[in-house]
Amino acid sequence: MTAGETESVPQIDGLFPAPATGLSDADLLAELDAPGLRMNFVSSIDGAVTREGLSGGLSSDADKRLFGLLRRVADVVLVAAGTVRTEGYTAMRVDPESAAWREAHGKPAHPVFAIASGRLDLDPESPIFTDAPTPPILLTTPAGAARAPLFAGRAEVVVAATAAGDRVDGAAAVEALRARGLTRILCEGGPTFFGALIAADAVDELCLTIEPTLEAGEARRIATGRATPRNMRLARVLASGDTLLLRYSRVTA
Ligand SMILES: NC(=O)c1ccc[n+]([C@@H]2O[C@H](COP(=O)([O-])OP(=O)(O)OC[C@H]3O[C@@H](n4cnc5c(N)ncnc54)[C@H](OP(=O)(O)O)[C@@H]3O)[C@@H](O)[C@H]2O)c1
Repeated sequence: MTAGETESVPQIDGLFPAPATGLSDADLLAELDAPGLRMNFVSSIDGAVTREGLSGGLSSDADKRLFGLLRRVADVVLVAAGTVRTEGYTAMRVDPESAAWREAHGKPAHPVFAIASGRLDLDPESPIFTDAPTPPILLTTPAGAARAPLFAGRAEVVVAATAAGDRVDGAAAVEALRARGLTRILCEGGPTFFGALIAADAVDELCLTIEPTLEAGEARRIATGRATPRNMRLARVLASGDTLLLRYSRVTA
């Protein structure tokens, strides 16, 4: 970008429940700033969650715009260790506009970063910890908690394990965050952890961007593992060109 040019914002239109053209950030944020566990994924039409191993290869500018807005309203961004390692996460910081919005709305400038990991095989020297605006929360098993001393002063280590103690339990992880006042929980994956959250019936909402590509290949789908099927309700359909931005909510009795 050269001096005088402004970054163009990808247009996002509403299709359902009401048609709307050129939604503003305020329009989009109005219905996103609510408590609950929200998943966010991007997928190709044929269900791939990565291109060349990364989600970024699939993501359009409209998806990135919504991704930023979802982080803007989150108290905590929850990510499993596999995705943290593969996608090269660093410190959890939102852009300056989002930080200003958050502070104007009585929130800390940046969301807390929470990481789910059985083994806690994470580098305590990573910027995730050394550059963190607030110490991340590490949700783990009793075996993982044995590595807690490595993260002393850099992260809070919380055991949130299944009865067998070998995995992080989705419901216990969510409860641990809520107990810390972190009620707007945005989970950015990955597929294995999403499966654990579905199994625990912990998911309130799914934001799913469908990018207009056919990928084939060996990429995963958005959730894996064993779980009881859960019905969801279509809450919102947005579009940006050929990209669809869907939001599904938990069906409540
Ligand atoms: N398209 C998208 O929107 C999107 C979003 C996210 C990820 N992805 C892609 O998905 C791929 C990664 O898939 P994945 O299924 O391996 O992701 P994942 O769920 O992030 O990673 C699996 C790892 O996370 C930890 N983990 C997950 N669930 C756990 C549980 N219940 N208890 C304890 N630890 C748990 C474990 O780490 P430890 O080994 O440390 O115990 C496990 O090895 C990457 O290629 C990434 O780019 C795509």
